[in-house]
Parts: sequence; C-alpha cells; structure tokens
Amino acid sequence: MRTYDLALIGFGGVSRALAELISSDAERLTRQLGFSLRVVAITDLAFGSLVQPDGIDLAAVLAMPRGADFSALPGGSADPRNHDVIQDCPADIVVEATFTNPVDGQPAASHVRWALESGKHVTTTNKGPVALHARALTALAEERGLSFEFEGAVLSGTPILRFAQQMLPGLTTTSVEGILNGTSNYVLGRREAGATLEAAIREAQELGYAEADPTADIEGSDVRLKVAILAQQVLGVDVSLASIDTQGISGISDADIREASEQGLRWKLIGSATRTDDGGVTAAVRPVALGEEHPLAGIAGATNAVTFTTNLLGQVTVSGPGAGRVETAYALLSDIIAIDAATRTSERAAAAELVDLVGVTL
Ligand code: HSE
Repeated sequence: MRTYDLALIGFGGVSRALAELISSDAERLTRQLGFSLRVVAITDLAFGSLVQPDGIDLAAVLAMPRGADFSALPGGSADPRNHDVIQDCPADIVVEATFTNPVDGQPAASHVRWALESGKHVTTTNKGPVALHARALTALAEERGLSFEFEGAVLSGTPILRFAQQMLPGLTTTSVEGILNGTSNYVLGRREAGATLEAAIREAQELGYAEADPTADIEGSDVRLKVAILAQQVLGVDVSLASIDTQGISGISDADIREASEQGLRWKLIGSATRTDDGGVTAAVRPVALGEEHPLAGIAGATNAVTFTTNLLGQVTVSGPGAGRVETAYALLSDIIAIDAATRTSERAAAAELVDLVGVTL
C-alpha cells in the first residue's frame, strides 16, 4: 500500500481539521482511497516546527494546550523554520494553509515555490499564490513533473474549479458569476432577519466562516481574489486585481435591506467575470439586489454558488459550502487524491515508454 508523507505548513483550523480526519478516520480513508497518509512535518507561527520522518503522533499534537510549542519534542523547535522545513523535510506533498497578503500573495506564494523547487507536490487553500502567481507556479510544477493543486482557493471543498475544467467539455463559457464569500452572504441573511452588521459578523466568526480580521470578507477583497482565479481558470484570461471594480457590503443600510425586501429582492455580494468581444474580460465585485428568478437569489446562509453562462447549455449553477474548517480540509484531501491520480498516470506513462523502448511486454 502506497503512503504519502505530508508536511503541514500552517497549523490553524483547516490543517487541524485535516489532521483530525487523517488520525481519526485513517482506516476508512485508506480503504476508499487506496493509499494512506502520514504527517512527517508541521510548521506554525504559534507552535514552531516539528519534523519526525517516521510519522508524527497527530492525536498527541492535536491535544497540545494553547501556548505550548514543539521545542520539547524530538525534532521540534519553537521556530517555524518554514523555509528549511519545506526544503529539507522528507515529505512527498506540502499542504500549504498559512495566509495570503492580497497585494503580493506572500508568504504563501514563497512556501509553494520552495516546495516545488525541492521536488514536492503542493496543495494550498490560499488564494494569493493562485490569483497572483498561478502561471509561474504551474509552469514550475510542470517543469519538475509535479502537481500544484488549489481546489480550496475558491468555494472551499465544493469542487468548482474541477467542475469547470472537467464537466463542461466542448462548451464556451462566456461568463462566470457567483456568491463567493460565505461570511458576507451569511451576514446579509442575518441582516434581513434584523441583526446588526457587527452582531452578524461576530456570529460568522464564531461559526468559523469569517477570517480573524473580517475586513476582506466584508469589503470584497476576498471575492476579488476569487474572481481573478475564476477568470484565469475558467475563462483563461488573466485579470489584474486593480482592474476589478470592488465594493463590499458595509455600505448597505437598514433602509436598503428593507426596501429590497418590500420589492421581493435579496441583496447578494456578486463577483463576476464576463468575456468581452476583444478577447478580454470585465470583472467586478459589488452588492446586487437580485429578483427571485435569479439562480443566485435563493442561496442562503454561508453557502456559495457559481453560475456559468455557456453557449450550448445556457446557465449552469453549482452551489455548496464556501467556507468552514472541515469543508476546506476536504478541499486539501481532494487535491491529494488528484495528486495521487496524476502520480499513477505518469508512472503508467513511464512504464509504457519503457516497454516501447525495450520492445517487451512487462
Ligand atoms: N472567509 C471566507 C468566506 C472563506 O467567508 O467565504 C475563505 O475564503
């Protein structure tokens, strides 16, 4: 049975949810997937770093109290040593779940690059490396025969990027628009029910949808990164973040909410990218009051949804979770499954090449 060794870079809610899944559900996963997973390295700003090539006891690490660090453990240090751990640890796959500065995509983008440069596959939930550096990082991965996967960057575990790439063959998609932030959709729903903006944001944080600093969720910059990724991955066109006209939901007043409700409309924060006749894309993030006939009007709570407008099928809408620790951890798992599939495909191709070369059937 094949085992993939993982390095978890960042040990926040999402990585912990993945570690819990790997440690508590190992037997079922191995049976269903046909491979097993072992964590050999963890780094984190709060805990430091831990490298144990024979496998880390995840249950023990998950039980460590707040404020503890890894320095007392064999292979442990209070220093995250991200660069050295990513480059030198004996992992097959680097699971990158730290954070992204929306201007330059750091530090996540460097973590991805270091991992690929040292011959490791990568899965990341971070939007920055994808929105800002996908072409360079994908080229680097291809050059090294490695996988760079990022399903969790948009709609967490709901497989919207693979859906677009694999389930719409032979169609031309002319636009993609969606509810791409669970926090803002949750907050808008709670405000319709009478909650204040502040109370609704606090609830979204308690439920694990909002970031510790919810500004990017509420003011649209989280959606802007996702729109850039959708434009690039679905429409095949790079758009700069600066060209995406962005407006969040904090300017929506109680009166706006009331008036929309009276007219049977629902406020939604919509991110969109639409092809233009000259081969480009226009993209925007803005609150829109939608009529009930719109496919995105009924999307409630922290659910996300994306509507693809296509030449032959008209509109196709996919909805599902767009935030949450376990849901995003599933995105990482789905990427690891994709990495396994790609590894097996390239091994089969290499074996076939060998057969051709020596002229025998093995
Ligand atoms: N905080 C985001 C949301 C999830 O509320 O949708 C990660 O992008």
